[in-house]
Parts: sequence; C-alpha cells; structure tokens
Amino acid sequence: MLFYLQEILLGDMDVFFVFKSEIVGLLVSSAAILLSVTACYFLLKPLNRIRDLCDVGYEEQLRLDNYGQTRRQLANEMRRRKKIGEIPPVYPNGWFVLCESDDLKNRQVRSVDALGEHFAVFRSAEGVAYVLDAYCPHLGAHLGVGSRVVGDCVECPFHGWQFRGADGQCTSIPYTSGKIPKSARVKSWPCDEVNGFIFVWYHAEQENPSWKVPRIPEIVTRKWIYGGRSEYKVNAHIQEIPENGSDVAHLDCLHGPSLLYGSDLNAAQGGKSDNGWAPFLQHHWKVKWEANSEEKHVAISSLHHELRLFGRLPFISVDVEAKQMGPGLVCLSFNTSFGRCLLFETVTPIEPMIQRVLHRLYAPVFMVGPIAKFFVWGEAVMFERDVAVWNSKTFTSKPMLVAEDRAINLYRRWFQQFYSENSPRFTFKENVSSSW
Ligand code: FES
Ligand SMILES: [Fe+2]
Repeated sequence: MLFYLQEILLGDMDVFFVFKSEIVGLLVSSAAILLSVTACYFLLKPLNRIRDLCDVGYEEQLRLDNYGQTRRQLANEMRRRKKIGEIPPVYPNGWFVLCESDDLKNRQVRSVDALGEHFAVFRSAEGVAYVLDAYCPHLGAHLGVGSRVVGDCVECPFHGWQFRGADGQCTSIPYTSGKIPKSARVKSWPCDEVNGFIFVWYHAEQENPSWKVPRIPEIVTRKWIYGGRSEYKVNAHIQEIPENGSDVAHLDCLHGPSLLYGSDLNAAQGGKSDNGWAPFLQHHWKVKWEANSEEKHVAISSLHHELRLFGRLPFISVDVEAKQMGPGLVCLSFNTSFGRCLLFETVTPIEPMIQRVLHRLYAPVFMVGPIAKFFVWGEAVMFERDVAVWNSKTFTSKPMLVAEDRAINLYRRWFQQFYSENSPRFTFKENVSSSW
C-alpha cells in the first residue's frame, strides 16, 4: 500500500491505474461476500410469521366500509357485531400450551392469561418449568409481574413471600418471626414441558391428567430441529378450529386455489375454474377423519394432497396424518418427497371467543432453511384462509348437513368428551371484551 502511494505521489500513472483496479476488485468481492452471507442468513433463518386478530380477513370490509377506521378498529367493531351463536362451554378439559420453551429462560417468570385463569409461569434455576395461580394470597400482587425466581420458588414482588413451584406452598415470609401458616399457598397447576411447549392441564372438575402429551423421539434426540413457526389470534370458539379436520368438503373449496393466490379470500376466488378452463395450478385433497378406538382423546385425519397442473397432472403430492390429541393439540406428520417432518398446531383459549393458535415445525437438519420455510409459509397461507372464515362466521349448533358432511357430526360427538358438568359457559357481558 505504502509503495503504491509513494509511486502515485511521484506521478506514476500506471501504478495509479493498477492500484485503482485492485481497490475496485476488492470492493466488488467484499460486496459479493456480504450479499451471499446476507442471502444465506435469510434463506436459512426459520420463518416466524405472526398475525394479530385484525391481520387476517376483513379485507372486504376495509375496502368497502371502513369510514377511515384503522384495521384494528374495524376488527373490533366486527367482533362486537358478530352473531356468536349457541356455543358449547368455552373452556374444554385437556392440555393447553401457555408458552413455548424458548420464551422462558432459567429464572424467568411470565404472566399468561388463558382459560379464564391468570397464571404465573416460571422456570427454576435448574430449568424446571412451573405454573402457579398468579395472585399472591397475601395481598393479591401478581406473581408473574416483577417477581423473581429463588431456587424452585417464585418470590412475590410486594412483600417477598416465596412460593414453591411444585406445590404452591409458601416457604418463606421474610419479616415474620412466627410460623408460616400451612394455608399460605397458591394453586400449583399440573404442567408438562414437551416438544418445545409448556403445557398446563385444565379440568373444570379439578381432575388430574387422564393422558399425557407424547414426547416425539426425533425431537428429544435432536434428530429433528426447529424449522419455523407461525402464531395467530382467532375470533372463534375453540371447537371450530379442530373441526376443520373433519370438514372434508371445505378443502377443495377453500384450499383448492393455488397457494400463490395468498390468504385473501377474494384473491383466492381467482384460482377457481368458472370459465370452463381448469386453473393452471390447483390443490386437490382427500381426507378421512376417524376417532381413535384405543385412545379416546385422540382422533386422526388422514390427508392426501396433490398439487395439479391444469386440474389433471399431479405435480407435488404430500401425505399428512393429523393426530388431534385432546381439544388443544394437533400433531401433523408430513410425508413429502423431501422426507418426513412434523408440525404442531396448538390452540389455547385466551378468552371465550379468542384463540391463540401456534404452529411449530420440526424437521431434519437438511430440510431446515428454504424447504422448511416453504412448508411453514404454505401451511400459514392455507390456515389464514380458514382464519378469515372463522373470524366472521357464527357457530351453528344445529348445522344443515348432507351425507358427505357426516364426519362433522362424528367430530362433534367425539369433542363432547372434553366438556364436563362445571365447564364454564359463555355469558356475553362478562366474556366479550370490547377490544383486545
Ligand atoms: S402481596 Fe405478595 S407478599 Fe404481599
Ligand atoms: Fe381448512
């Protein structure tokens, strides 16, 4: 470098041109390296798609009827106006996801509202997750807000009482010289950390868990790794969401138009053939829904999917087994030409008519990146078409069905097992927040 500068200062123009071309070459190759590193990062980074209650559906109303309202205001108004229908009890019995494992570090506490309850979810210094009732029995402070974890206990931020995660017993009152009363305790909820989620067991009759969420060996042994996620809030009763698996007829109608039309229902209409010509790309589905005879909390939808060219030529085919376990969890096993992968769908009621739905994909390492991204994106687009329908539909307690819809009846009968005598019922004033 010094040599170049010396020669240039002495007026040697040849050296100047060599120097210039070397600098340009260096800049171009650095830019190319930077660009490829950035491209690799975005290609390999798992997709994380998050949609709030107002983000999906409502396109039509926004176009025609918004009177200057924001999307959020319009969605809130649509929620208020929606005819809810005669819905079943709002919180069925079963395992429900409160948060994902990644979202709770050691010694971290989170506040989670769901199932009409307020929870303090925390992880001990040793890494064990616990779920306690949120309100401190002393003077009612929230144990999930501003508290800290001490060993396997959570310490209330107000006066420092400590509660053990395993049983909710108060183990320390820092300023008393007397004995800690036995009744100084909060409710400790049955919880389990499985496949990247922290679950709580909810039962309206306070019964203990009657089944377990299965651990997937490929995830436990880290043979399959996290490949992306999506997250939604949906304005519907919880029973509507898994009902999709038994609703055979909606598949070709709602999910027939190619993925490329996206999730806007009006745009997707463009993918239907009403001019005598088969669309260039179309999805075809076959599904069979069955309650499992061995485990009564399980039902299985077996799906065969084909992407066809001009309605005839199968282009890509995928077989999916969707195993519904209880009211709040589905495990979808995809058998693709790239290999097998697994997608969890979890549904947690955070209000009677607001469900938080998570999708989380696990796949072999070689699939993580563009292939996994495509799966998460494709599944999300199709799911959003359902969300657009759920957000505005009413619950029909006595649906007008034809013979081909028979699985819907079977599903509804099967789902009844998750309600019990004291399952909370919907009351309009208490249970519909005017906004979220
Ligand atoms: S309110 Fe929790 S220790 Fe007082
Ligand atoms: Fe669907």
